[in-house]
Amino acid sequence: MSGFHKLTINTITKETAKAISLSFDVPQALKDTFIFTAGQYVTLKTTINNKEVRRDYSLCSSPNSGIIKVAIKEVKDGTFSSYANANLKTGDTIEVAAPKGRFTFTPNNKTKNIVAFAAGSGITPVLSIVKCALEDETQSKVVLVYGNKTQEDAMFLGELKELKEKYNERLSIQFLYSQKDESNSIFGRIEKSTVNYVLNEHANIAFDAFYICGPESMIHTVKDSLIENNVSEDAINYELFKASKPANTTEATVASSGETKITVIVDDETTTFDMSQKQTLLEAALDKDLDAPYSCQGGICSSCLARVTEGEATMRQNNILTESEIAEGLVLTCQAHPTTPTIVIDFDDV
Ligand SMILES: Cc1cc2nc3c(=O)[nH]c(=O)nc-3n(C[C@H](O)[C@H](O)[C@H](O)COP(=O)(O)OP(=O)(O)OC[C@H]3O[C@@H](n4cnc5c(N)ncnc54)[C@H](O)[C@@H]3O)c2cc1C
Ligand code: FES
Repeated sequence: MSGFHKLTINTITKETAKAISLSFDVPQALKDTFIFTAGQYVTLKTTINNKEVRRDYSLCSSPNSGIIKVAIKEVKDGTFSSYANANLKTGDTIEVAAPKGRFTFTPNNKTKNIVAFAAGSGITPVLSIVKCALEDETQSKVVLVYGNKTQEDAMFLGELKELKEKYNERLSIQFLYSQKDESNSIFGRIEKSTVNYVLNEHANIAFDAFYICGPESMIHTVKDSLIENNVSEDAINYELFKASKPANTTEATVASSGETKITVIVDDETTTFDMSQKQTLLEAALDKDLDAPYSCQGGICSSCLARVTEGEATMRQNNILTESEIAEGLVLTCQAHPTTPTIVIDFDDV
């Protein structure tokens, strides 16, 4: 179920002093497995210092290109991002899971005008979405707002310049730099005033969808400002790369000391066993060596999604599922503790 495939790195490009992009050879037999929708990500798995490490990286290529390409920005003291920037080379193999994720743009041959806000490495899924919208929605207009500390930190400036030259007035890009004043750019971070400015600048365009990817505080600021500008919440899509720590109080109220008889269905196999309600559903499944899918374990990637078909569970935190999806029984198993004496969860029915 977790479905990893060994892929060989065919190209590595240094995008900035602290970021690389990698693309992979995908054998013919796996071509269908790696078809993706703009905005999706892949999970990379490797072993570092004898410990298995799984991390998610958004695809930055266009789905039309058939290329599986990710960009990895080094974070301070980051286990995988530092390893990847320092050690990975062309010809290395790495385990890669099939693309997934819900921060997506699906072209529908109608004009779909979009605004995307990206900060730092948040540009990766946004770049794929921007390319897809420009390639497949031939009348659509795209506005990209892209914030970085300095120009030297900004990934894909060359590619963005080429897109601007190719698509001309269909693509508008507003750069922001928070640590250096650059010409034709705003000095500062993406803030409420940026959202208001961009919407005013393009007041003649009716936007259908909004995409936001970056630090959590920036996502909240942009989302709230869009809503203040009468944008419907349904039109706003966002992706977090880093989980915020769950509040201890929530954790305490969720985790009780009872026991639950859990039945897990994964890859058509059913396993029943007892678990402590202090554990999450995912922890219990992994302790039993079940091949349950997961990645971030922080409630932000949705890899661990399952359906509760009997019993109940409560999530510590959830940045992904809507109220109606929760009502349908979907849970992020890395965040969910059982609250009933028995529970049945199905990883196959999502
Ligand atoms: C759906 C999804 C898509 C993602 N796409 C991308 C992508 O396209 N490119 C990319 O570079 N990253 C992306 N990430 C983040 C990536 O998965 C890793 O979390 C990141 O590379 C850090 O991993 P690490 O092992 O180096 O750091 P860890 O060893 O996990 O963490 C080390 C320290 O860095 C902090 N940290 C962790 N992540 C971040 C972060 N993103 N920014 C700042 N500090 C952090 C931690 O709090 C910790 O203090 C994505 C994450 C998700 C959930
Ligand atoms: S493993 Fe990422 S949301 Fe659960």
